[in-house]
Amino acid sequence: MMIRCAVVSLFLLTLSILTVSDEILDGGDFIKLPSEALRFFDGSAEADGGDDHDSVGTRWAILLAGSNGYWNYRHQADVCHAYQVLKRGGLKDENIVVFMYDDIAYNEENPRPGVIINSPHGEDVYNGVPKDYVGEDVTVDNFFAVLLGNKTSIKGGSGKVVDSSSNDHIFIYYSDHGGPGVLGMPTSPYLYADDLINVLKKKHSSGTYKSLVFYLEACESGSIFEGLLPEGLNIYATTAANAEESSWGTYCPGDYPSPPPEYETCLGDLYSVAWMEDSDVHNLRAETLRQQYQLVKKRTAGANSYYGSHVMQFGDLQLSLDTLYLYMGTNPANDNFTLLSENSLWPSSRPVNQRDADLLHFWHKFRKAPEGSTRKFESQQQLTEAMAHRTHLDNSIKLIGKLLFGFEKGPEVLNNVRPAGEPLVDDWNCLKWLVREFETHCGSLSQYGMKHMRSIANICNAGVNVEQMAEASAQACTRFPSNPWSSLHRGFSA
Ligand SMILES: *[C@@H]1O[C@H](CO)[C@@H](O)[C@H](O)[C@H]1NC(C)=O
Ligand SMILES: *[C@@H]1O[C@H](CO)[C@@H](O)[C@H](O)[C@H]1NC(C)=O
Repeated sequence: MMIRCAVVSLFLLTLSILTVSDEILDGGDFIKLPSEALRFFDGSAEADGGDDHDSVGTRWAILLAGSNGYWNYRHQADVCHAYQVLKRGGLKDENIVVFMYDDIAYNEENPRPGVIINSPHGEDVYNGVPKDYVGEDVTVDNFFAVLLGNKTSIKGGSGKVVDSSSNDHIFIYYSDHGGPGVLGMPTSPYLYADDLINVLKKKHSSGTYKSLVFYLEACESGSIFEGLLPEGLNIYATTAANAEESSWGTYCPGDYPSPPPEYETCLGDLYSVAWMEDSDVHNLRAETLRQQYQLVKKRTAGANSYYGSHVMQFGDLQLSLDTLYLYMGTNPANDNFTLLSENSLWPSSRPVNQRDADLLHFWHKFRKAPEGSTRKFESQQQLTEAMAHRTHLDNSIKLIGKLLFGFEKGPEVLNNVRPAGEPLVDDWNCLKWLVREFETHCGSLSQYGMKHMRSIANICNAGVNVEQMAEASAQACTRFPSNPWSSLHRGFSA
């Protein structure tokens, strides 16, 4: 008996060393043994009354598309597709909360009214998607209230919340534009990293989940968790990009494979379709989060160094040894398709930078519109206005930097990137105040302008106060942008 115990403890010790070693956590080839062995030996089986870990608790999900507008077709397509994955996996509608603006399926630009596809040969993913929070109800406050299960603070929508308990598993998936420290919303204000982290901490301290997985697609999405998401909250997050780079749209006009010719917009996002097309076809009882992370990372990195982004992971990395089944369920039709026997992921030859996908839409609309048509004129105007506002934002920020720090030092302060692992900004309220000052004088940052969030954060970190920012912004922006770029139109993004 003694000898047996000793052997078992030695085995456990070896396992725990294995589990934390970089080889297991970062190696390309996944070793299946530790997750199953750990589950068997770590005593949790007995603690749970002998129940299979997988069968305990309810699976909850929040799916959120942060954008609107036909040129952003792909974000809502991603979210609808995610719903279908979970639905086929066996989750119930009462446990899936969907946020989407819902202006795509019946948009006048949509060549197939009432249908949304997420890949060139994909089937309709819109059918059956619950419309919990649509239009102006897609707000940061509602998202937080849903996650916290606080029905009384919900405004509008279906009123569905994540009414979870301590044994439950929660999956959150978000897709949209973002910038350093910020995620877009179709309404204002946007979603800031510090607020999100605080809500996650609050959810954790309420003891209403066992573990939570967060999949995040946005530009600079790594900045949402880097240096901010602590370990010990039982949260595992992966992001489409690191803290300093764009994420990518895919199945865009001109890409291979490209959307059907009548689509003048990207159908999906690179990281998002990578995880969903993987989950679509596999037995998720046999695949871990870790294995999916490796696959998605490889596909999202792209075939060459110019296209693609670095998928990152944050939080409690040991949770990545969990099977996907724990969060997404599994489609019984895939029971015989395990990861190793079937890998049908498509490469994408020419994904499009998130921030250029709107221009791509306007360009294709313009190119295909008949000569002399209203459509030709309209798309040309959309393209010109979008370009002009970009230039205006870029120039204004640069000039503000120079006004505040001088011609030499300005660009240096604005472009500074803090070492990996440090949060973007020390004082998040300062960042939000300065964003408001900028937008008061220079117009809305809009989805493109979120890229300048790091510069504004650096201005805070350099000790500039609200009055100084107001003065510099007023000097830099003598011409206030008109609709739709005015901050009077949609409100401040902070
Ligand atoms: C729910 O939200 C309301 C209003 O925002 C707040 O007063 C209340 O304390 C919250 N309830 C819980 C349980 O957090
Ligand atoms: C899986 O394979 C077994 C054995 O070949 C077969 O009986 C079963 O019907 C298959 N399941 C599915 C869902 O195709």
